[in-house]
Amino acid sequence: MNNLAVIGMQWGDEGKGKIIDYLSEKADIICRFNGGNNAGHTLMVGKEKTVLHLIPSGILRKGKTALIGNGVVIDPRVLLEEIAILEKAKVSVTPSNLLISSNAHVILPFHIEMDRQSGKAIGTTNRGIGPAYMFKAARKGLRMHQLIDRKFFKDSHGKDDFYEEYSRYAEKLRPFVKDTSPYLWNSISQKKKLLFEGAQGTLLDLDHGTYPFVTSSNCTSGGIASGLGIPPRDVQSSLGLLKAYTTRVGNGPFPTELTDKTGEQIAKAGNEFGATTGRARRVGWFDATIARYAVQLNGIDSVALTKLDVLTGHKKIKLCTGYKYKGKLLPHFPTDISILDEVTPVYEEMMGWWEDISVAKTLSDLPKSAYKYMQKIESLIGVPVSILSVGPERSQTIVLRPDLLF
Ligand code: GDP
Ligand code: IMO
Ligand code: MG
Repeated sequence: MNNLAVIGMQWGDEGKGKIIDYLSEKADIICRFNGGNNAGHTLMVGKEKTVLHLIPSGILRKGKTALIGNGVVIDPRVLLEEIAILEKAKVSVTPSNLLISSNAHVILPFHIEMDRQSGKAIGTTNRGIGPAYMFKAARKGLRMHQLIDRKFFKDSHGKDDFYEEYSRYAEKLRPFVKDTSPYLWNSISQKKKLLFEGAQGTLLDLDHGTYPFVTSSNCTSGGIASGLGIPPRDVQSSLGLLKAYTTRVGNGPFPTELTDKTGEQIAKAGNEFGATTGRARRVGWFDATIARYAVQLNGIDSVALTKLDVLTGHKKIKLCTGYKYKGKLLPHFPTDISILDEVTPVYEEMMGWWEDISVAKTLSDLPKSAYKYMQKIESLIGVPVSILSVGPERSQTIVLRPDLLF
């Protein structure tokens, strides 16, 4: 397999950054195709923690190319800050290892202001993401090639108060900007290995998520081809990222949400605070209805199950196996939130475990109950776990099915 998509199967923050960083060792090009700096992807190498918002999570590895596709919305100030932070940490970011699509849209200061004023009901990240995509869809947006075109930018924005500042950003970013689709076609024909780094998660997808409590892009695998300008057939395989429980930041329905002591305990053990906004994440039991929906929608071939270590220390662990609505079991996840608001999760209880599993190196190091929990998830969703993550650090990763990865 040459190309692999990494897609969040819940409401984001499943540990995509960690797994992309791990897998990028074997990749040539790591591509972001959607979203913007609403994303917060955490990487831990040894004790060194890096949080990336815009630059693909392969950037820490030498000799790899990080690519920001046309489907991403770019805040040039944040991007330059991120480059500066990486440079300070001795990670070199140059036009030879970072490419930015000339067709990506630019987030401008008034988009951020609009988001601040109108994003409260949704609980957005206030990064200007929705308004920037709104301008794109209305055909009034500014693309990267227009930002770096001195004459065009002056003629179109010369009278705006951000003109001088953004002209400076344009000068700095110009060497990174290129028509990235032909670059990708060429790379694919040369059998280069591509990793597609999803941002957000399936239930935040603009079309298929819990609308209107979603983000403004397609974060499912369907967004890869349009967000990068490559044929869908080149998205050969999809790895779904699944947290061993569920979290959500921002507002909107959450059937398995825990608002009791158990929820607090999981949130604390999992350090569930947003990597972008620092907001406390809402926490709940694992939900197989959501996971099955994500498998279908994205064509998930296998799963990276993350944060299993966080569930250590509970007498019983619950899993939601389905939803009841008006007394009947629903056949699949309802995307109409008026229905979702009314569902009752059906739970199955399993034995917990007390052993610290963050030091596990193989499946045989897991206590029986943890192993059974993982197997239960596999049988509920119908696809195998190919990677098991038992801690935030790069090495706390157990590969179970290398044949399903690359
Ligand atoms: P992303 O947005 O999907 O990349 O995920 P985030 O980085 O926003 O949130 C995941 C958090 O969990 C980060 O703080 C990671 O360092 C951490 N993490 C990832 N995998 C594991 C794991 O298996 N166990 C634990 N305890 N933490 C993990
Ligand atoms: P990563 O890539 C979790 C949520 C926000 C809000 C909704 C809309 O780190 O998984 P937006 O600013 O996008 O218009 O906000 O989407 N959201 C995320 N939640 N992880 C993310 O990204 C998110 N990106 C956006 O909290 O509910
Ligand atoms: Mg995140």
